[in-house]
Amino acid sequence: MLTPNLTVSENGTLCIGGADTVQLAKEHGTPLYVMDENMIRENCRGYHEVIAEEYGGNGLICFASKALSCKELYRIVDSEGLGADVISGGELYTALQAGMPAEKIVMHGNSKSDAELKMALETGVGRIVADNLPELKRLNGIAGELGKKARIMLRIKPGIDAHTHDFVKTGCIDSKFGFALETGEALAAVQAAFAYPNLELTGLHCHIGSQILDTEPFAEAARVMLGFMDTVRKTCGITLPELNLGGGPGIRYTEKDDPPAFGSIVRAILSALKSICKDLNFPEPFVLFEPGRSIVGGAGLTLYTVMARKTIPGIRTYVLVDGGMCDNPRYALYGSEYEAMIAGKAGMPRSERVTIGGKCCESGDLIGENMPLQPAEEGDILAVLATGAYNYSMASNYNRNPRAEMVMVKDGEARTVIRRESYEDIVRNDL
Ligand code: LLP
Repeated sequence: MLTPNLTVSENGTLCIGGADTVQLAKEHGTPLYVMDENMIRENCRGYHEVIAEEYGGNGLICFASKALSCKELYRIVDSEGLGADVISGGELYTALQAGMPAEKIVMHGNSKSDAELKMALETGVGRIVADNLPELKRLNGIAGELGKKARIMLRIKPGIDAHTHDFVKTGCIDSKFGFALETGEALAAVQAAFAYPNLELTGLHCHIGSQILDTEPFAEAARVMLGFMDTVRKTCGITLPELNLGGGPGIRYTEKDDPPAFGSIVRAILSALKSICKDLNFPEPFVLFEPGRSIVGGAGLTLYTVMARKTIPGIRTYVLVDGGMCDNPRYALYGSEYEAMIAGKAGMPRSERVTIGGKCCESGDLIGENMPLQPAEEGDILAVLATGAYNYSMASNYNRNPRAEMVMVKDGEARTVIRRESYEDIVRNDL
């Protein structure tokens, strides 16, 4: 099985976290996102343990909620001692509504509005990661008006090429995010931040990309960032106390993938950090990490109903389902591969190769092509695996399809954590 939380029951059906997926589809309808709470919690603890063991607990894990933002997720990660990374007023609002303490929230964004910056300051967000000079100026002004000092970090592009999809690479000079090191832009930004009276620069941030399957680019980013903190110390006479190394550890989407365990990535980063601190005689900074995918990705799957099969002789067989790019746009966007199975035939070999087509009015609306699958018939329940990250959070109402329900499974019991949208929800803002 792709992830350890998946099992096959005695009657040959796929189970996640002890819950029978065919039964879940029957009770809740499809498309249905299913998340496994125990696995999410184990992943949170896994991150915590490494920081405790390798770094004396001198850090904070902020769940990157762009991977999956809903109230229950914030409650779960908060109860495991994690904070949250938010990228918009909407994510911030959801986190606060769920009771996530504001000081454990990191606010991101390369185009934050004045309203979002004000919201972050008023609610007492722990750190705002500033992306560009106009933002620094606006933030200083807004903080002044509110009589507050904004705790900020600066987003730096460390110039590391992590080998991942071009769309999710962010650490190189040609990226819309942050300040470049190579050009001197980053040092100028640090100096600008120090000069603003209403900003308190606590440290630096970088995020080199997502779904990264090697350890070395992370360790290299840590070395580069620490080297730059040393440059800041020498040039400006200030020792920055915090370093945020973003997210990015990859997960297993298909049986071909063999990513390093996130624990070994974090260990390698911390060990690189400790050794460079020693070499430079630099005090070990408080570290932040922002993992998203590696906490929730493998903990979720999506259930669909097979509506039809269409065989085009000599070309391919389509298996058509009742969802698609509106609940999982990742194949259409990035060509991301998934494993799928017929939930009620999980014990049988996947003897066919099919294209899974969605219900949207778009030829590119596919979940995948050339996918091994058990013989699929109308009415079967199809499970697409490892959809816990960047599926619900990237879902849309394209073709005015209501967004799907999400259930959280714990020890075999399921509870709804996001209701299925209704047609009433769909027209709510239409005048
Ligand atoms: N921190 C920052 C500043 C980020 O930009 C991201 C992801 C993360 C943390 C979390 O990265 P993770 O641990 O989840 O890899 N929609 C794409 C992924 C975009 C990721 C953007 N930033 C996908 O579906 O693959």
